Amino acid sequence: MDPRRFNFSSGPAVLPEPVLLQLREELWSIDGTGIGIAEHSHRGPLFDHVLADAQWAVREVSGLDDEWEVLFLQGGATMHFALIPMNFLGERTTAAFADTGTWTAKAIAEAKRYGKVDVLWSGKDTHWDRVPKQGDLPRCDGARYFHYCSNNTIEGTQYAGPLDVGAPLVCDASSDIFSRRYDLGLHALVFAGSQKNIGMSGNVLVLVRREFLATAREDLSPMLSYRAHAAAGSRLNTPNTLGIRALGLCCRWILDQGGVAAIEARNEAKAQLLYHEIDMSGGFYRGCAHTTSRSRMNVTFRLASESLEQAFAAEAARNDLDGLAGHRSFGGIRASIYNAMPHAGCEALASFMREFMRTRG
Ligand SMILES: Cc1ncc(COP(=O)(O)O)c(C=O)c1O
Repeated sequence: MDPRRFNFSSGPAVLPEPVLLQLREELWSIDGTGIGIAEHSHRGPLFDHVLADAQWAVREVSGLDDEWEVLFLQGGATMHFALIPMNFLGERTTAAFADTGTWTAKAIAEAKRYGKVDVLWSGKDTHWDRVPKQGDLPRCDGARYFHYCSNNTIEGTQYAGPLDVGAPLVCDASSDIFSRRYDLGLHALVFAGSQKNIGMSGNVLVLVRREFLATAREDLSPMLSYRAHAAAGSRLNTPNTLGIRALGLCCRWILDQGGVAAIEARNEAKAQLLYHEIDMSGGFYRGCAHTTSRSRMNVTFRLASESLEQAFAAEAARNDLDGLAGHRSFGGIRASIYNAMPHAGCEALASFMREFMRTRG
C-alpha cells in the first residue's frame, strides 16, 4: 500500500487508521457473509445489525438517552439548513441565530424562506474572528429555536460551550461533534455532517429530542420530514449503508480511545502545538481567530502576503503535509486537525512552521 501523508483537509478528512483497515476488509466481506458492506441490502439482517451497532455507538459516545432520536440522514448538513426551518418554523414564528460565518449565513438564508429570522449577534464587524459569549446575546425566549454553529470550520472559531438564550438550542456541530465534552443534552436538535469527525461524506447525524420532534410539522413530504425519518428508523429510503458503518466504527474508535474526555485532551494538546507556533512567531503567523474563540479543530492563520501563503501550502504539501490552503472564500492557511489527526501530524506541521519561518522570515 502507498505510504500515508498527513491530511489537514477540512472534510472529507482524515479517518482513524484502524477504521480504514476494518472498512477495507468489510468492503470485501463483512461478518463472514462473503458479501461486502456496500453490497448488503439495507433491509437485510446484516444491515439491521450494522445500523443498531452505529446507533449504540452514537449513544455511548454522546451519553444521550432514550429521550433522543438518533437519525442517519442524507443531503449534507446543507440540506438540514432548510429541513430544520421547514419542520419547525412557520410563517409567524421566529428562528433566532448567531451569525458567526459562512455556515450560519447559509442557514439564515434558508430559514428566511420559511419564517421570521432574528439575528441576535453577528461577527461581521470583526471579520468573523470570534463567537459570542453568554451575555453578548439578548434573550430570545419567544423564538421557536436558536440556531448556532459550535465550530466555524472556515473561520476557525469555536464556542466554549452552549449558551442559554431562553429558546430551544439547535446546533450545527458538523466540524466538532464528539471532539470534546459538550453538553448535547441542553439542546433540542444537534446535526453534523459526518465527513470530519465521524466518518465519510454522505451522512448527516441528527440527534433530536423526542419532545421537540413532537412539535414538528406533520404535513411535509416524508423525505423532508424528521418525523417520517424517525418513524422509519432512518430507512425511509435506501440509506448510505457504507457511510453508516464508517460512522459507527468511528464512534467505536472514539470509545476505544477513552471516549470524548480522552479525545478532548488529545485535541487540546494538538491545537496548542500549532497555536504556540503562531504566538511565538512574532507576527510572522497571524491567527485569524481572537484568542478567546480559537477552534481546536480548524487552526486558521495568515502570513504577510497571499503569495507567501501559497508558498507555505505548496512547500508543506511537498513535505507530506497536505490540504493546508484556507477556504477559497476566506484565504490564508487552515489546518484541520479533527479527532483522527495524529499528534505526530501536528508536531510535523509545527516543526514545518518553524523551518518555513526560519528560511522565509
Ligand atoms: C460547520 C459546517 N456546517 C455545514 C457544512 C456543510 O456541510 P455539507 O457540505 O455536508 O452540506 C460544513 C461543511 O464543511 C460545515 O463545516
